[in-house]
Amino acid sequence: MRQPLIAGNWKMNGSKSSAEALLNGVVAGAGEISKAEIAVCVPFPYLYLGEQLLAGSAVRLGAQNLCTEGGGAFTGEVSGSMLADFGCRYVICGHSERREYYGETEASIAQKLVRATESGLIPILCVGETLQQREAGEMESVIAAQIDGIVERIGIDAFSGIEIAYEPVWAIGTGKTATPEQAQAVHAYIRGRIAASNGSIAATLRILYGGSMKPGNAVELLAQPDIDGGLIGGASLSADDFLAICLAG
Ligand code: G3H
Repeated sequence: MRQPLIAGNWKMNGSKSSAEALLNGVVAGAGEISKAEIAVCVPFPYLYLGEQLLAGSAVRLGAQNLCTEGGGAFTGEVSGSMLADFGCRYVICGHSERREYYGETEASIAQKLVRATESGLIPILCVGETLQQREAGEMESVIAAQIDGIVERIGIDAFSGIEIAYEPVWAIGTGKTATPEQAQAVHAYIRGRIAASNGSIAATLRILYGGSMKPGNAVELLAQPDIDGGLIGGASLSADDFLAICLAG
């Protein structure tokens, strides 16, 4: 039985005061959530607030990125050990926005996954196809390349300490959601791809769905057998909406 994980990805949103209010709001409602594990992946400057305000609650802290290197002369970068130092449990790796705007590739994402696990963090590896790729019938081959490119570099065993998030790029922040059937089909494909290398890792692997998940569609999506949680963007910026999704988990 895989415990659902509902992780908020705040992206580059908020201010010191809104982050404080949102963290307090999530903590205040988290006691009502018995089934799902809850995490919030906040911008780097708000990690210190997260560390303070989530202390003693069941809500886990996460970050949205980390450096490919462990430390040293890498101006502007943040290492996995720094994130762990602030009490992070999770770190998002290879989000489509980072692949698109910051040139992340399977090679750099694999390095980040290694750095994350070395630092005691659990990476949330994002995969997903664009609309153009889906319409061209390339969905499976794109996902397969994204997964195989990591497995080849870090080995299948590493996946026992990794979460995967399936995020169809066409559904991110667009209000378009994959139907529960569409999402389930891809999640089952991902699990099958991992199972081809290691069946027991595939059976315990959590695969989250991300892409305009909201209180109104979360129940149906999370009811699918291979959907083990959500990576929530826009709706994680409202404590009420985020907690409603957590309740559906
Ligand atoms: O990481 C989260 C995803 O990009 C989904 O974002 O819920 O705003 O569509 P969204």
